[in-house]
Amino acid sequence: MAHAIKKPHQENIRHAPVSIHQRGSSFPVRRMDFEFDGLQRYFVNGDPASSFFLTSFQAFFPEGEQFFVDSVRDAQPLVSDERLLKEISAFIGQESMHGKEHKTANEELRRQGINVFGLDAKARWTRKKLNKILPLKMRLAGTAAVEHYTAVLAEYIMKTKEFENLIQDPKVKSLIYWHAMEESEHRAVAFDVYKHVGGGYLLRAVAMAIVSVLILPVIMSGMYSIMKQDGQLTNWKSWRSFAKTYFGRKGVVTALLPDLLLYFKPSFHPMDSDMDSVMVEWKERLGLNPAAA
Ligand SMILES: [Fe+2]
Ligand SMILES: [Fe+2]
Repeated sequence: MAHAIKKPHQENIRHAPVSIHQRGSSFPVRRMDFEFDGLQRYFVNGDPASSFFLTSFQAFFPEGEQFFVDSVRDAQPLVSDERLLKEISAFIGQESMHGKEHKTANEELRRQGINVFGLDAKARWTRKKLNKILPLKMRLAGTAAVEHYTAVLAEYIMKTKEFENLIQDPKVKSLIYWHAMEESEHRAVAFDVYKHVGGGYLLRAVAMAIVSVLILPVIMSGMYSIMKQDGQLTNWKSWRSFAKTYFGRKGVVTALLPDLLLYFKPSFHPMDSDMDSVMVEWKERLGLNPAAA
């Protein structure tokens, strides 16, 4: 019998924004207000370790995003370009919304017995310390480097069907893809601000190298604490599945490496990557276009 087969992943992740603001910037700020009640904590392939790797990453988002906001906001007085000032203000709006939504997801996880707020507190302490001890240009270089990580990850997950198929919970999927889409929209802002205040190649390359050395150990240590809370430390099958999913020949992290390295090209600019058509597709699927909202 011939009837249209609905693909669940294409039908259940629409989430219209509660409000959309755009004041002269190239991208808007959308308020989402996701509901995360009952989200599946093993949202990656039903596997604890594969899921908790991303849960740990997410645990650092509220404070991480705040670090980006702090650095770009502190640079505002040094920026004279009207267009860039509008991009900065939209960047601050988007990152603040990301922090808010990921915090809400973390609160739901806490209700389910996965508490990542200890990691959040450590991240807050680190953010405040870095804001105090690092010159603004270094904080911007760090922000631009991490923004390259989020942009490369966003590009990968938006363009890779295999990754999409791994994310089984529609609530988590709409959160991840909304965030990824907006990371693509604002991927050049921190980089442009860094350049605008006189940031050069050497510092941004050093910042990228430092971020690259630290990022995996930080996420892995958070993941270890979450695995422990969930009684999964000796779930070797899950650890094996995690290793294959992220670090195997076709693993997520393995796939990101070539694009991550592009940052070391002196002529690199975040807008070099072609994201236009995939962003149009995902805005439609997520229900983020004003017309579809
Ligand atoms: Fe973000
Ligand atoms: Fe970002």
